[in-house]
Amino acid sequence: MSKKAAIVGGGVIGGGWAARFLLNGWDVALFDPDPEAERKIDEVLSNARRSLPALYDQAMPDEGRLTFRGSLAEAVAGVSWVQESVPERLDLKHKVFAQIEKSAPADAVLGSSTSGFKPSELNAQGGRAIVAHPFNPVYLLPLVELVGDAAETGRAADILRGIGMFPLTVRKEIDAHIADRLLEAVWRESLWLVKDGVATTEEIDEAIRMGFGLRWAQMGLFETYRIAGGEAGMRHFMAQFGPALAWPWTKLMDVPEFTDELVDLISDQSDAQSGHMSIRALERLRDDNLVGIMRVLKASGSGAGGVINKHEAALRPEKLR
Ligand SMILES: NC(=O)c1ccc[n+]([C@@H]2O[C@H](COP(=O)([O-])OP(=O)(O)OC[C@H]3O[C@@H](n4cnc5c(N)ncnc54)[C@H](O)[C@@H]3O)[C@@H](O)[C@H]2O)c1
Repeated sequence: MSKKAAIVGGGVIGGGWAARFLLNGWDVALFDPDPEAERKIDEVLSNARRSLPALYDQAMPDEGRLTFRGSLAEAVAGVSWVQESVPERLDLKHKVFAQIEKSAPADAVLGSSTSGFKPSELNAQGGRAIVAHPFNPVYLLPLVELVGDAAETGRAADILRGIGMFPLTVRKEIDAHIADRLLEAVWRESLWLVKDGVATTEEIDEAIRMGFGLRWAQMGLFETYRIAGGEAGMRHFMAQFGPALAWPWTKLMDVPEFTDELVDLISDQSDAQSGHMSIRALERLRDDNLVGIMRVLKASGSGAGGVINKHEAALRPEKLR
């Protein structure tokens, strides 16, 4: 297998994929019609270069070669992996995958970064795309949700582990996979809290980062709740908090209408909260914090730290050869 990947769509997510592959020694061919794409990718790559290697206690593979291609067909020629990361519109994804299927090698993995579409929707007009849904920043966060044909997702998982990622194969296709279902619930509740004047965007962020956000990063939800049940564990936790589900703690499936007024309210509060920093500066702050957290997790082998330990062990023989 050639260590060559094509990235189709080089925005926030495509740029992160490019960095992830390049810094793990893969050559990357990128296609994006945006004349600004090259500048944006360079900026993402600079951030990735200063953060990803800081997770490792040994040298990473030599960086691969990045080339910008003038057409999709040129980008996907001869690659082992094609990652589609164009905007989240099904008609556009259909158009792009039709071109990819025509020009990519028959044995290349065809992944889509889609946050919400199912493989059966992506392949509605025929095709063999799988969902390979990453998280921002793709070069640091290990999770990729894989959905689709078992043989294809199996091949994809091996490749993703090779570039230090954590493939989570989703058992059944479902709108928005696993993680975005969870995030959507938190997002929906947060929109209500702002709209109803209960909390500002900053107060909601404090409620997350001063408390349960710290727990989630290292143990997730269920393991955390098991401990919250005390010595009697999960059963006690459920007996204690189960009845709360019937109380009006949550707005459940109700969604606040996305009026201009609500968009303005949230955007203005977000500007007041974080407008003093550029997006790039915020990205660097986020990356430094993630590296610090993940290095602590690495020491205990917990969560994402365990993934880095395994990847590091797998890299070692390659460097000694
Ligand atoms: N932003 C996130 O946090 C996030 C996380 C996970 C997955 N995703 C998914 O990743 C995908 C991309 O999202 P994004 O946030 O990077 O969007 P984005 O708008 O930042 O980037 C999309 C890029 O695609 C390019 N593009 C448009 N048409 C194209 C075409 N025909 N061929 C090639 N390139 C084309 C655009 O010029 C742009 O650079 C979406 O499916 C989204 O759901 C986003």
